[in-house]
Amino acid sequence: MAINDNFLRELQERTDIEQLVGSYVDLKRRGKTFVGLCPFHNEKTPSFTVYPDSNSFYCFGCGAGGDAITFIRRIENLDYVEAVKFVAQSAGLKMPEDGFDDTLSKKRNRILSANREAARFFHKCLYSEKGEQGLSYFTKRMLSKETITHFGLGFAPDSWDALRSHLKSMGYSDLELYEANLVKRSEKNGSVHYYDNFRNRVMFPIIDLRGNVVGFSGRVLDDSKPKYVNTADTLVYKKGNGIFAMNFAKNANEGKFIIVEGQMDVITLHQAGFTNAIACLGTAFTQEQANLISRYADEVYVCYDSDQAGQTATRKAVSILGSTGLRIKIVKLTGGKDADEIIKIRGRDYFRMLLEGAANRIEYDILNERTKYDLSTDDGRVNFLNAAADILASVGEIERDIYASRLANETGVSKEAILAKAQQRSAVVRRKAAERKRAEESKMLTDIKDKNNPEKEKNLLAARAEEIIIASLARNPDFYRKLSGELTPEVFVTSFNKRVATVLLQKLESGSGAELSYFAGSFTPQEMDSITRIFRLGDEIGNTPQEVEDCINVLKKEKRTANVKASELSDEEFLKLFQKK
Ligand code: UTP
Ligand code: MN
Repeated sequence: MAINDNFLRELQERTDIEQLVGSYVDLKRRGKTFVGLCPFHNEKTPSFTVYPDSNSFYCFGCGAGGDAITFIRRIENLDYVEAVKFVAQSAGLKMPEDGFDDTLSKKRNRILSANREAARFFHKCLYSEKGEQGLSYFTKRMLSKETITHFGLGFAPDSWDALRSHLKSMGYSDLELYEANLVKRSEKNGSVHYYDNFRNRVMFPIIDLRGNVVGFSGRVLDDSKPKYVNTADTLVYKKGNGIFAMNFAKNANEGKFIIVEGQMDVITLHQAGFTNAIACLGTAFTQEQANLISRYADEVYVCYDSDQAGQTATRKAVSILGSTGLRIKIVKLTGGKDADEIIKIRGRDYFRMLLEGAANRIEYDILNERTKYDLSTDDGRVNFLNAAADILASVGEIERDIYASRLANETGVSKEAILAKAQQRSAVVRRKAAERKRAEESKMLTDIKDKNNPEKEKNLLAARAEEIIIASLARNPDFYRKLSGELTPEVFVTSFNKRVATVLLQKLESGSGAELSYFAGSFTPQEMDSITRIFRLGDEIGNTPQEVEDCINVLKKEKRTANVKASELSDEEFLKLFQKK
């Protein structure tokens, strides 16, 4: 993959990383850097840092890092070439038409356009003879024509190749349709056969934030199994990222979303005027989905089905959402099994009432605990109050007072006793949190384990020397001329660092200097984390040619002697290894 260095350098010069990142993350100036809450993991205190001087970012909480292109790749979920285009566009630069390989991005575009045509086809079918059943299914579920159009709903005919032959006549190949998961493949007697993935189902297109059709859910018309067939992971869709109706809800909400279980719930709610309803697709609620939601909302109403599965899913979702700092309300659905049914049986005002009666996180946690104990016994009350005190221990003073009063009323135990217990527990809770944080920080600093460089743990000394060499040369490209005689990739011990060095030395050899963005084309965004961390080491080291030479000697010696394992180092040696200079 080669976008030429001159273009990347110009792009780098013209890109204002703090502005680019600033449109996603609320950044505050701190000296020469900017800090904010990391968009790639959940945190309450900012450890995400943007370095305008080197046009890079690094998160001390989760280790995510890279240049502007890597940032866009991750946050917009784009491939490398698309991310370069994106950054170029925001910098007002036109990408050179030659000299880069955009196979992947062309493939993605083909999948997106096949999906769009498929959605059009399914929608048309709904109003044709073969789609009668589908239309009457939606009518039976009380969806209006406007709603059907708004969501682009459709019908996949009861046929093995209706969609396939339609799209093939439009010029799409079997392979493209297969990669879009619109058709499936089987092999019989050595010959390959393709057939429609969605058959005899009503179709719900899944649309991303930029209006692309990224996938589909198809529901059977009766009670047969499986109820839904969904697009599997493709180049343009990952189940764990999919959020249904986010494209509409992001404009409708006043910072509030209603999260329901299924797409039918979403559609019915939108039709009833709750246009901030969304559904997280896939079997489990994921951190990625929570992060995406928290970029567009500050409060969410979790509105899952009233059955056992729905309640279990609620607990999981609440716990994942909890770490994003979103305000969470938990709605107890009564009078029907899911939001769809409740709207239809009870109407929108009833549903609104349920929303208004939603429990906040504290109430919900306490309610959850209450179901575990028998409050008619002394033992049960004591255990319940202990559990409740743990919950109150971690909330603010005002909330603590309010809920202590309520608990006192309910259990007959004095409010003072409950508050005292919560106070006592809060010291414990705080100490535990502080311990966790310290452990995390020290782990981050030493960084013995590096998922991108599994050999590091067993070659601690060598890896550290390698990192210093890379960091030093990246920051001081002029050292290279002095050292080029003894510095080759072969000197490097761990294979990840060897790969990094190979690219770095090539760039230095050709006189291009060392920019993070030169690496973004040959390394994944995850690998960029480690490269950025290594580059940031430049802040801590001596930055002298002598230091690099010492490190080269360390590597040469390492090659000769046995590897030093972390466990074999004395505490003193270990500390020395990571001491700031
Ligand atoms: P439900 O079984 O609650 O379906 O699954 P639903 O949304 O209420 O659908 P209707 O009202 O019966 O038509 C909730 C969600 O879980 C996913 C779908 O996204 C569904 O909307 N699901 C369910 C699947 O992906 N596959 C399945 O087989 C079932
Ligand atoms: Mn339902």
